[in-house]
This record gives sequence, C-alpha cells and structure tokens, in this order.
Amino acid sequence: MRFYAVSGSAARQRTECAIVGLYESGTLSTAAAQLDAVLGGRIARLVKRHDARGKLGECSLLDVDHAPCERVLLVGLGKKESFGRKQYKKAMLAAAAAVAKTGARDAVSFLSVEPIAATDAYYRGRLAAESVGHALYRVPAIRSTRQPPVPALKNFGVALAGKDQVKEAGRGLEHGRGIAAGAALTRDLANLPANVCTPTYLAKQARELAKQYRSVRAEILDEPELKRLKMGSFLSVTAGTDEPAKLILLRHDGGEKGEAPVVLVGKGVTFDTGGISLKQPPGMDEMKFDMTGAASVFGALKAAAEIGLKRNLIGVVPACENMPSGRATKPGDVVRSMSGQTIEVINTDAEGRLILCDALTYSRRFKPAVVVDIATLTGACVIALGAHTSAVMSNDDDLAAEIEEAGRRAEDRAWHMPMAEEYHDQLKSNFADFANACGRDGGAITAACFLAKFTDGLRWAHIDIAGTAYVTGAHKGSTGRPVPLLVDFLLHLP
Ligand code: BES
Ligand code: MN
Ligand code: ZN
Repeated sequence: MRFYAVSGSAARQRTECAIVGLYESGTLSTAAAQLDAVLGGRIARLVKRHDARGKLGECSLLDVDHAPCERVLLVGLGKKESFGRKQYKKAMLAAAAAVAKTGARDAVSFLSVEPIAATDAYYRGRLAAESVGHALYRVPAIRSTRQPPVPALKNFGVALAGKDQVKEAGRGLEHGRGIAAGAALTRDLANLPANVCTPTYLAKQARELAKQYRSVRAEILDEPELKRLKMGSFLSVTAGTDEPAKLILLRHDGGEKGEAPVVLVGKGVTFDTGGISLKQPPGMDEMKFDMTGAASVFGALKAAAEIGLKRNLIGVVPACENMPSGRATKPGDVVRSMSGQTIEVINTDAEGRLILCDALTYSRRFKPAVVVDIATLTGACVIALGAHTSAVMSNDDDLAAEIEEAGRRAEDRAWHMPMAEEYHDQLKSNFADFANACGRDGGAITAACFLAKFTDGLRWAHIDIAGTAYVTGAHKGSTGRPVPLLVDFLLHLP
C-alpha cells in the first residue's frame, strides 16, 4: 500500500473513492458537505430518508460516477461531541474494510479533516495507516479452494485540514505503515497452526527478518547451549515434547554503538497443552496463540526496522512446546533456574513464567536500559481486564506509566496493576526457593511477582496480553496487539 497526505477541499480531490463522514445527528462532515454541493444534494437526501444514520462505523457506498470521484463512502462517526481517537480509529477500520470490498484502487479519507479530540496530524496519519493495514490483513489461510479475493486498493490518501499539517501526517503515515507491517507479521505467526509454527519455524522466521533488513541480526541458541547456560527452568517446560526448543535472539541496531539496548522478551510457547496439568479440551486450539508475546517481539522489531528506529533493540524469545509425555515435568518436580534460584513446579500449566524467568536472566548480559516482557501469561488477566486492555506490572511505577501512556496514544490500551510484597507470600514453597503457581486469587499479579524474582536491579515491566492477543468466536484470530503500544513506547523513549 502506498500512503499519501493531501490537503484541500473534497470537491477538488480526484479519487476512485472519497471517504467522508456523517454524524449521528444527521450533520454532514466538512468533506461530505463539500461533495454534497457538487453532487446536487445527493448525500443530504440519503440522510433525510434515513438511509444513512451516522452510527459509528456504519458505511454506505454511493456510486456517483461524477467528478471528482467515482464513489463516495459515507461513514458513520457517531456523536459529534464524543468523536475522539478511539472513534476515529473505529471509523477508519470500518471504512478501510468497506473500501477493500470495492474495486477501487485508490481512496482518499477525509475523516482526518474533522475535529478529533487531542489528536494531532501525526496521529491522524498514523492511526489511519495502521487501520488500513489492519483491515486489509488476510489470515494466511491453508485452504485448497475458495481463496478470498485480494483487495484492489493500492493507494490510500489521508486529507488534512491545512497544508501545514501534511508533512507531520506524512511522517505518521510512514510510521503507521511500519507498525501495520509489524503487526501483520505478528498476526501471521500467531494465526499459523502449531504444527506449522514450531520453535524451529520461529527461528527460521528470525533468520528471514535478518535477511530482509540491514539493521537486523539473528542468533539461535539450541538445547545443548541452553543446557550449558543452565536454563533448567526453561528446559523443564520443553522436557515433554519432541520438538526442539530454541532461544531466539534478534537485534535491531538503530542507535549509537554502545548505547544501552531496550530488551523485549516474548513468551514463545508454540502450543500449551498445560503439560501433565493438562488443560480441558474446550478452546484448547486457542493455545496455538500462546506464542503471541514472541510474535509481538518479532513484529516490533520488524516495525523498528521499517521505520528506521534510532534505538538499539534486542529481542529475546524462548520458544518451546508444553506437552505431556513420559519425559514431561511433573507437578512437585523441583527445577533450578539459570539464576540459581530453585522452583517447585506446582502446576505444569504455569509454564510461561518458567521459560520467561530464564530469558529474563539471560537478558542481563546486555546491560539493558529497559526490559519489557510480553506474554499471554494468565487466564486471570482475562478475568480481571477482559479482552480490551492488557495488564502492565513493573518494578518501576514511572515505567508502567510510560507504557500506559504509549497504550493510550497508540489506542492499544494497557492498565497498571499492583505488585506489592503481600502477593509474593502466595508463592512460598516447602521444597524450593518458591513455587511456580498458587491459588487463583490475583493470578495475573502473582505471575508477575514470580517474574520479579528474576529482575532485581533491572528496569523491568511485564505486559500480560492473554486477553488482548487474539479474539475468539466467529472472527477468531490474532489482533497484532501489543505491537502498536510497543512501537509507540519505543518511539517516545527519552
Ligand atoms: N497460556 C496460559 C494463559 C492463558 C489462558 C492465555 C487463557 C490465554 C488465555 C498459561 O500458560 C496458563 O495456563 N496459565 C495458568 C496459570 C495457573 C496454572 C497458575 C492459568 O492462567 O490458568
Ligand atoms: Mn499454561
Ligand atoms: Zn501458556
């Protein structure tokens, strides 16, 4: 997709599809009114007959075949008073999905001309490009027949109210395109079935990224090296499977040589059966998404490479399967982590923390400025926050606030949850330094407390994406989250 920013009246903008807004009150957006004047009141008539009601995200397509455009896509913007960033993104997503169903090869959106609360030209461009990328994404379908048609759309323009905003919007479009490309990689990897997307496959994709981008390098550590590193916790999770585990290292060298890197650690459980603490069958297929943390690290690195982010970034991805077998770790087994601390494995289904803790210990060697881990870590997180908000926990309140802020700016929200000393008591063990699991109360927090035992002296945050990484139901699939949040966070680092 080629994105471009323009300014000026919709009445003079030539395009195959003009995207304009309608508010719930029946008020036409600025551009809709401009086109209505050229079209002899056709849009206003549509509204008068209640054929378009302006409900947020509701689209009507008009074939106008009349200069300056061939089609008008009228998009509902909801209530004018409450039109903000979230509504803008929702309207853009709906508009992009609707245009993609037409034969238009070119479209210009004028929704960005409207007043949008607290949203500058940069974010108008960026959120538009991200939304178009998101809406045009197609699941890598493994089908023998019925391949869905490829959208004709190739060029997408975003209109700004003033000429002076075009440059900033263009920068936003460029970043939005990079974020969309990163999120699409995340979605591809996460959507793939676990019999395709194995740890070995992820390692191969890391090498692919390194081939594609000059700034990116990849390194893969195999099981013999993990043993030499004494990653007994990570290895205890992979003990039950025949698929070899991998520790995947990815770097994007965009900053000064010697600048302390930002390390992103991603949970890469390519399938989580629960192990000997076997999960219930309903919904177990969704545990192929249990590597979305890893996939979001890949996506963030891809976006950074696309954008040319001027930062040193390192991705650390422990990848393995969690399977039951005669060699699998059993409840009650005690394992020694790379840090030297011993862990009683009370529940083999609390495997994410067992692979992350060794990856966090490993990340120390990079003397990082910040470490952020991303994981589909707990069902408790889904109970606490549902499907719309990721959880963030940190040993540094300022860092947690920065991540929350990035989530707000990127419209990819996260909420800071507490992590006080009292919660740590729940992880006490009679047989090891601590246990990997405890009662259900505060499950997302106790999981973070477990990880905190490996992050002493690091500036660290943990993002639990169990609720936000994918959607269930008819539209089951990866969301590409939290790539927008991560990239926004990286772009705003001091
Ligand atoms: N991968 C799951 C967490 C999960 C659950 C992600 C639902 C997405 C949706 C994780 O490995 C897990 O099984 N966690 C357990 C921890 C418990 C045994 C302490 C959980 O949340 O039940
Ligand atoms: Mn599990
Ligand atoms: Zn898991």
